[in-house]
Amino acid sequence: MPDPTTRDRPVILGNWKMHKTPAEAEALAGAVVAGTAGLAVDVGLAPAYPALLSVGAAVRGSRVRLVGQDAHFEPQGAFTGAVSARMLAACGCSLVLVGHSERRLHFGDTDAVVRRKLDAVLAAGMAPVLCVGETLVQREAGAADSVVREQLEAGLAALDAEDRERVLVAYEPVWAIGTGRTATAETAEAMHRVLRRAAAVIAGEATAARLSILYGGSVKGDNVAEILAGANVDGVLVGGASLESGSFLDICRNAA
Ligand code: PGA
Repeated sequence: MPDPTTRDRPVILGNWKMHKTPAEAEALAGAVVAGTAGLAVDVGLAPAYPALLSVGAAVRGSRVRLVGQDAHFEPQGAFTGAVSARMLAACGCSLVLVGHSERRLHFGDTDAVVRRKLDAVLAAGMAPVLCVGETLVQREAGAADSVVREQLEAGLAALDAEDRERVLVAYEPVWAIGTGRTATAETAEAMHRVLRRAAAVIAGEATAARLSILYGGSVKGDNVAEILAGANVDGVLVGGASLESGSFLDICRNAA
């Protein structure tokens, strides 16, 4: 089983958000499995909950991983509409996004909630992808570095050493998500360096050196190679361009 926490190969995660029926998702996953076989990338797909089982079936036996988009922090209970980490694990997920900016913005996920979700995902035996990123207002106020450092700290600080080794981080500047406005490769690399340095303070140099830090925000086939050229950029989290096999496979090929 490929381990996306090793930094050996670029990690390419497709976040399908609230798109694709189970049948549509299964067809797309099948095309991704076929198109990425043999490529030197670690691919993961994050369908909406109703499509987890059909996508899980489509990726079974391949290197493509099943990824949850979010998880509730309680293992079960009276939380109408919510899905727990252990349910995702039972569906075959091995990675789960935590703290995506859309969760923070539209669903009120605070750093404290994100922290509890990290615990739940780790307790269910999966690897969380902790998403951090500043808004445009925060960037223009010169606060980008401190915002992402604080989000990282809120997520990682209280985890034990073993659990920290299992976390991936995604830097997703909010102003670049779904806007067509990508961070320049220089900005992405600079922010990833900030995050790796902050991780070293929290978790020590060795853990920080092993930490996979993905970039997200309007990644496409024609900018992925430049973004991944950054020494601290270990993969990408792709939204819009992951919804069609052609554009997603372009990204995977150009990343490989
Ligand atoms: P985008 O989304 O690629 O459509 O900008 C990225 C994300 O939200 O993960």
